[in-house]
Amino acid sequence: MARHPRSRGTPKGKPAVKLALIIGAAAMVAVPLVVSAALRTRRNFTVTDPGIRGGPADAGGPIPGLNSEETTTFNDGSTNFTTVFAVPQGLGPQFDENQCSSCHIQPAVGGSGPAAPATNPLFSVYQLDGATNTMPSFESTTGPILVPRFPYMSDLKTPDDTVHQLFTITGRSDATGCSIQQPNFTQAESENNIAYHQPLPTFGDGFLEFIENSTLTANMTTECASQSTYGICGTASISGHDGSVNRLGWKAQWRGLNFASGEEMNVQMGVTNEYFPAELNQTTGCDFNPVPESATNFSNSIPEDQFTGDPERLAIFMRFLAPPTPAKFNSQATTGQTEFNTIGCQLCHTESFTTPTSPFPAMSQKTITPYTDLLLHHMGNCLADGVTMGAAAGDMFRTPALWGAGKRMFFLHDGRTSDLLTAILDHSDTYCTGGLGKTGYQASEADIVISNFEGLSPQYQQDILDFIRSL
Ligand code: HEC
Ligand code: HEC
Repeated sequence: MARHPRSRGTPKGKPAVKLALIIGAAAMVAVPLVVSAALRTRRNFTVTDPGIRGGPADAGGPIPGLNSEETTTFNDGSTNFTTVFAVPQGLGPQFDENQCSSCHIQPAVGGSGPAAPATNPLFSVYQLDGATNTMPSFESTTGPILVPRFPYMSDLKTPDDTVHQLFTITGRSDATGCSIQQPNFTQAESENNIAYHQPLPTFGDGFLEFIENSTLTANMTTECASQSTYGICGTASISGHDGSVNRLGWKAQWRGLNFASGEEMNVQMGVTNEYFPAELNQTTGCDFNPVPESATNFSNSIPEDQFTGDPERLAIFMRFLAPPTPAKFNSQATTGQTEFNTIGCQLCHTESFTTPTSPFPAMSQKTITPYTDLLLHHMGNCLADGVTMGAAAGDMFRTPALWGAGKRMFFLHDGRTSDLLTAILDHSDTYCTGGLGKTGYQASEADIVISNFEGLSPQYQQDILDFIRSL
């Protein structure tokens, strides 16, 4: 397996971790970023993210083995996921986009966004149908789709943490008489009171939704047992409703897909529904429809699979959306996977879980490989966004799944980079590439593992990137 020296001068046979711990400790005290960058290019070998994997999407289809009714409902849900909403169908008064698939499209419907090569879809919607919105300066035509949250209210003391929708329906030809302002994003930026979240892919989410709580907490116990060596011990985001483990969203704020779909409809598009029946903005003259705008269809002429409101149909589509298919690993990717496990990445990015017995045979007792523990971790000042959501403090994020990472365009919660190496280094304040965004939070739980990564030879680091781009 060892095609090339594993670490900078590691004596043969010594575990990389031990040496790296020493390097890591030294680096935390004295070694500035420039030095580690220089080390990465030693022996004229530059560690480079190979970029988005070519070839077929390797995602977007239904789980193999669905029966014909399940497949029909999956296909119908897919239509809902791509339906464009205007004001008569419920768009607004405030919104970010008019279609789920605007933001969830890379590399196929249901994914993250925007579609490669990056063309930010917000630019096609903000002045659609006469709307008079201005585009906030943090969005760019070739950048990630950024949905803003304000950590605090305007007094900068009272917690807010909610999404402040980018746009309003003011000026649209289907919203005559409505006049409301966009939030003041420039002020929020100048007060450092804004955080950005990019879309997460939904492939394989049905499997993640169904993993038993006990499976996740047993894995947490194993993970935390290694805390003295690695400094890692995840936190389960326990639902205040039934005590189960919330697991979807950057901050593990959602337990399952029905509720998440209802919330996304209302938050991203302003479409009220049976989960979230109230308009978020109730300014007189701006609410045009009876609420909830998307509701159960009580009519004999409606086909059975369209009886429910949109959130249920959207959730069924995502529940039956297959996990991404990895590429066949070449020898670099195979070595990279071994190194990924050896240096400790897998402690948070847990390779596999098995689902319980399910009423959907295609999802029953399946072993999946999402590369996430679905737990929250303290990630340091480099990543902290100051947003509190449930159990997640301002420096905590749920480990994102790495399946499909080979096709991802932007990484990390705020889409700050397209470069895998930057995404990895930003796990640690010591190696943070772009400056610390926040101050005062505890050290990242990933510090030791990222030091281990830095302790690897450039070739092994490259193998890890190749492995991730194969997923
Ligand atoms: C304006 C862009 C945008 C639109 C439109 C949008 N989303 Fe999202 N979606 C996001 C963002 C941003 C996140 C991450 C939210 C967070 O955790 O803060 C997300 C996360 C999700 C997740 C969680 C995925 C996971 O595995 O954790 C689901 C499910 C989801 N969206 C479903 C939908 C559905 C269904 C629709 C249509 C009703 C929709 N989204 C419309 C931006 C969007
Ligand atoms: C302490 C837990 C932890 C460890 C250890 C860890 N990660 Fe992560 N990883 C996370 C979290 C949490 C995020 C999301 C952070 C954010 O978006 O702010 C993340 C994000 C990522 C991403 C970006 C994924 C995306 O969807 O944007 C990649 C790639 C990644 N990690 C790879 C690695 C590799 C490689 C290692 C080992 C060198 C590693 N991680 C070690 C927790 C961890």
